[in-house]
Amino acid sequence: MIIVQITDTHIEEPGSLAYERFDTAANLRAAVAAINRIKPAPAMVLHTGDMAHHGSIERYRYFRELIADLEAPFYAIPGNHDGRAPFREAFSDTDWMPKDGTFLHYTIDDFPVRIVCCDSVRADEVTGGLCAERQDWLDRTLAEAPDKPTIVAMHHPPFGSGMTGTTSNGLVEGGAELAAILRRHPQVVRLIAGHAHRPFTCQFGGTIGYASPTTCYPFALEMGEERILSVAGEPPAFSLHLWMADAGVGEPGLVTHTIPIGDWGEPLPLLRKGKRILSAA
Ligand SMILES: [Fe+2]
Ligand SMILES: [Fe+2]
Repeated sequence: MIIVQITDTHIEEPGSLAYERFDTAANLRAAVAAINRIKPAPAMVLHTGDMAHHGSIERYRYFRELIADLEAPFYAIPGNHDGRAPFREAFSDTDWMPKDGTFLHYTIDDFPVRIVCCDSVRADEVTGGLCAERQDWLDRTLAEAPDKPTIVAMHHPPFGSGMTGTTSNGLVEGGAELAAILRRHPQVVRLIAGHAHRPFTCQFGGTIGYASPTTCYPFALEMGEERILSVAGEPPAFSLHLWMADAGVGEPGLVTHTIPIGDWGEPLPLLRKGKRILSAA
């Protein structure tokens, strides 16, 4: 089973460039084409927030136009750039968007891996958090299926990145409580996030925390005292989470790949069924 994670698409007004340089819509189109080429076909695509740079119904409609050719079922959670009300309205025709309640959290139970989609947004804040109500929801939701391998998804990474210029260094509310909740539910095989515009992994709450790369403009790895946040000239990318019946140790497991977006030309086959078809010399 393949779960594709895209994040931080930061869609702008049609025809405009972010920072007068980055075509986030073109990057998303390229991501959709790359995702459609994945074999075997992904079971689903999950967007972990910051879908639009300025969240509005118009931007989300434009986003949906841009992903119209996507073949896999699509799900999403909000980020700090998304407005809950227009986000909810724009996806009100889907069966996953919560119809009521303050928070946009829900579960995806149709696949061998369960996805628990959380809402880490704090209204009008860049930073993320999980209030007592959301902590309680997550704890109760995880308790419903203790034996099913589970991915917990949220926009803000609740763990540190070492990047000194960003807010991608944990939650400002509920981080320790979240770690304690995850420790109580060992079926959680991964906590996946976005927001950082850069991939990194970290041990968190007894599981593996993973922040996905962005499809828009990657942030540079800046770790100095100047606390700089800058955009790196690195390729945008998305993540592929592969659930394997045997992850190489006789047990099932989840492996995560990052896939850069761009025109890299045709792959050069070297081996077929273990037999060399092209030699280096
Ligand atoms: Fe973002
Ligand atoms: Fe964000």
